[in-house]
Amino acid sequence: MKALVLAGGSGTRLRPITHTRAKQLVPVANKPVLFYGLESIASAGVRDVGIVVGDTHAEIEAAVGDGSAFGLRVTYLRQEAPLGLAHAVLIARDYLGDDDFVMYLGDNFIVGGIDGLVERFRSRRPSAQILLTRVSDPSQFGVAELDGQGRVVGLEEKPRTPKSDLALAGVYLFGPEIHEAVAELKPSWRGELEITDAIQWLIESGRAVEPTLISGYWKDTGNVADMLEVNRLVLESLETRSDGDVHDSELIGRVAVEPGATVRRSRVVGPAVIGAGTLISDSYIGPFTSIAGDCRITGSEIEYSIVLARASIDGVRRIEASLIGHDVEVTPAPNTPRAHRLVLGDHSKVQISS
Ligand code: TTP
Repeated sequence: MKALVLAGGSGTRLRPITHTRAKQLVPVANKPVLFYGLESIASAGVRDVGIVVGDTHAEIEAAVGDGSAFGLRVTYLRQEAPLGLAHAVLIARDYLGDDDFVMYLGDNFIVGGIDGLVERFRSRRPSAQILLTRVSDPSQFGVAELDGQGRVVGLEEKPRTPKSDLALAGVYLFGPEIHEAVAELKPSWRGELEITDAIQWLIESGRAVEPTLISGYWKDTGNVADMLEVNRLVLESLETRSDGDVHDSELIGRVAVEPGATVRRSRVVGPAVIGAGTLISDSYIGPFTSIAGDCRITGSEIEYSIVLARASIDGVRRIEASLIGHDVEVTPAPNTPRAHRLVLGDHSKVQISS
């Protein structure tokens, strides 16, 4: 069995963070979200992984390398444009050959890994095994309709009137039959080759498509709210450690201070992680916060947030539920005149109390 990991795409929902950066590399508890997926694949006993990459290929390749750090053999497959999940399967045809494969969306997060799913697929060996999870807003997802016996009878991509609340989660298992289906596809109304259409084709040609309902946690980290929620969840099981230089400070609960970080005259209430080389001084860091490496947080308060590498926050009282990009500088506005001075990139989102 091989794995096909999708790490292309355009990431419009995470702009401006993803204007220039791969969304699959946005860190969760200071580790790229993609790495959790690669670890799950390795843990399920799969070694050969094709990673589909697009415009951000250089960054993904620099982060993952040949995959040996994960115990994997990685091959990069270039997709010229994000033309759909089934298009990614199409361009991977030669790499996959006639092997079974697990397809994993590189920005998805599944708690508890995929060992059980892979085992189940191997023993039952349907043409496709899909993962379903109940959601409150099914029209945002691929939605499955099941019959009374729990068989999949239909799939629809982002339906206006969903037939169920069962959304497709971002892990699929396929036999080589999927290539026949993909070869028959025409682009959908949004111009993409849809994997839901390929699976629908399998159903209509009488192939076995089996659903697995996951009770565990699944999130597509495509937007900021979901990113923060996944970060919260991963931090829940953080191990306390203090490898940095902590003085005149209070660390409460589970706090990880990475090597070379400095915390002084501050209060950190966990779970929270402070990245290598970061300076925290005269500040409050609240629960569910991940501060990446080489940041400077001085005289500020922040909680339930993700701060990416080399950002600096100086003298700002209470930042919450925020995703702060690489090399960002946040400072208070001078008191007079009472006005906001902003230098914001295209597609930035700011909420200002005024
Ligand atoms: P999506 O989140 O469906 O698409 P996107 O990356 O274009 O994001 P947005 O909706 O915010 O614009 O993609 C799921 C995963 O699959 C993600 O890791 C990107 C990847 N992908 C590809 O590699 N190739 C593709 O053609 C598409 C559509 C997605």
